[in-house]
Amino acid sequence: MRLLIHVGCGVFFTLQLVAAAEAGPSPQVERGREIFLNSKKGTPCGRCHSLAGVGKAIGPNLGTLASTVGPRGLVMTFKMTVYAYVKDYALATETFSGIERKKEGTEIEIYDLSQPTPVLRKVDAKRIISAKQTRLWKHPPAGAGYTSQELADLIGFLKWAANGSVTEIKASEVEPAP
Ligand code: HEC
Repeated sequence: MRLLIHVGCGVFFTLQLVAAAEAGPSPQVERGREIFLNSKKGTPCGRCHSLAGVGKAIGPNLGTLASTVGPRGLVMTFKMTVYAYVKDYALATETFSGIERKKEGTEIEIYDLSQPTPVLRKVDAKRIISAKQTRLWKHPPAGAGYTSQELADLIGFLKWAANGSVTEIKASEVEPAP
């Protein structure tokens, strides 16, 4: 970010601010951000969620959940199989899973989630035969095979992004309670 500062008598100087997001405040937050954005397991979270200025906001905002729910609860939501927003849209020619972005007049904008990178489609509402809670779609982290340490790192990043916490999340905190 570049700020133009007025120091009087028409004199300006520019101040270069290094984005705080460039370096994480702890190694765990760094690792978590890397998984969020670039994980080779499953589809990286950042393709569908936006947090701390990175990623794309297609799925729900994770901030509130990340600051209020504990590590095990968060892992359960990553692996959930019942969904609130994603629907299977049946048209005469095809059915695809998607999440509605907005409705304008008779046109609906839907992110098509049947592709690895969601694609925004504009569909005439009249073409939609049915839109039912999805049974075809699966939240990518559900089957991604993340290790407990990777999940702990992800949650470390989520919590830092949500409320600035840098408390280290241990792998044992994301494993099912004994
Ligand atoms: C292909 C897109 C996509 C990817 C990749 C993805 N998500 Fe999601 N996520 C969604 C959508 C869509 C929902 C909403 C599902 C619903 O309830 O209908 C969601 C829901 C969630 C929720 C629950 C939020 C709430 O308020 O109900 C959490 C937490 C979450 N995702 C975390 C993650 C994490 C962490 C990753 C990466 C490890 C990830 N997601 C990867 C699309 C994605």
